[in-house]
Amino acid sequence: MTDSVPSLDQLRALRPPQQPAYDDPAGLAKAVDELRRLPPLVFAGECDGLRSRLAQAAAGRAFVLQGGDCAETFDAVTAASIRGRLRVLLSMAVVLTYAAEVPVVKIGRIAGQYAKPRSEDMETRGGVTLPAYRGDAVNGFPFTAADRRPDPRRLLRAYNASAATFNLVRAFVTGGFADLRAMHLWNADFVREANVSARYEQLTAEIDRAVAFMAACGVDAGQAFRTVDFYASHEALLLDYEHALTRIDSRTGQPYNVGGHLLWIGERTRTVGGAHVELMRRLRNPLGLKIGPAASPADVVATVEALDPGREPGRLMVITRLGAARVRDLLPPIVAAVEATGRKVVWVCDPMHGNTFTAANGYKTRSFDDVTAELNGFFDVHAALGTWPGGVHFELTGDDVTECVGGLGDISEADLANRYETVCDPRLNRQQSLELAFMVADRLSGLDHSQRAGSDYVPLDF
Ligand code: PEP
Ligand code: CO
Repeated sequence: MTDSVPSLDQLRALRPPQQPAYDDPAGLAKAVDELRRLPPLVFAGECDGLRSRLAQAAAGRAFVLQGGDCAETFDAVTAASIRGRLRVLLSMAVVLTYAAEVPVVKIGRIAGQYAKPRSEDMETRGGVTLPAYRGDAVNGFPFTAADRRPDPRRLLRAYNASAATFNLVRAFVTGGFADLRAMHLWNADFVREANVSARYEQLTAEIDRAVAFMAACGVDAGQAFRTVDFYASHEALLLDYEHALTRIDSRTGQPYNVGGHLLWIGERTRTVGGAHVELMRRLRNPLGLKIGPAASPADVVATVEALDPGREPGRLMVITRLGAARVRDLLPPIVAAVEATGRKVVWVCDPMHGNTFTAANGYKTRSFDDVTAELNGFFDVHAALGTWPGGVHFELTGDDVTECVGGLGDISEADLANRYETVCDPRLNRQQSLELAFMVADRLSGLDHSQRAGSDYVPLDF
């Protein structure tokens, strides 16, 4: 294959895994055609901006917070749901910024996270076998033949849902909702007695005092406190969709995917020479690469070489999800092998996907303690190697769901039934998310300064 963007037919000829089995080729062609004509959701220049920010994180001068649903749903394209998700991410970002004293690069798993890789193509319930749910961009969650049939028109719905979501996110982050001086309002309805809430209020008060002090000194940081940069990301899974949203940027003549600022390649589609890597390596967007416990250091190096041949700072985030039990053994040789290539990637910890288990009552869940243990392993490994722990990646929601066990709310396996709403993996609820932000903040504030290149620069953006 040449270095230009492969055609959709060329990608299909590579027999990509994890694609829906559509039974309506004409309908699919029509949907892809329509998608190709729709306007970009993001501007290529914004993707370049994110790449520069990630370069800062690769150099130890910034920290990445990436989070959101495992799978967004069309039903959750509501003001309340979007506001709730944004609020928890912004709250976590403030906690992290204050502790780490470096800017936090905020990236949602939002406005495009509608497609899921599945370990089984089919699902059987009570003797009935139907296609597995692959995300709202592909089919419906209810277990009926009509819902589970992959419908290509859903690709257009996914585009529209992403557009509506990101429109509101943009309005919130530039229109005053994200104003640092109003942060005490973000969680005003939060459970008062919760320990994490007390810490949050204390932090809010400290920031209020710091802002008042700066104002008294005549520092006018108005705009810096009012708006934040917030980026959209999703897993680049469905090649029909991702190919249709790949466009040539008129400024530079370079290909960008305009469906999100950052796209990541999942653990199940990261094969070198495979269709996903072949498409993604041509894009100018910053990329994420998920790495599970089966990857050898040589595999990771080969994939990193394929995706970042130019060794460009900020091009690549390597998101490890190795599991609490194995992170301390598996991560060091991976980090060492990639660092030995001389490139600087952003090392991000996803403490969710290596720690999923099925509870005795059948719910797929994760334990807060395992999540914390993997994070601690990640920070310890980077401290031992002298490399910068560049960020964290969470599955979370703004709602008070009961999907992960443990945390201050002490959610038990029996509690899972109370509010289990995810259509895919279990998410941290708002309290668990803030609690983790404080835990990560404690690790960041304790970091040895040799791990922080140039941490003397403390910009106002939070
Ligand atoms: C995910 O992030 O939801 C996911 C499927 O992750 P992974 O590719 O790491 O399994
Ligand atoms: Co998931």
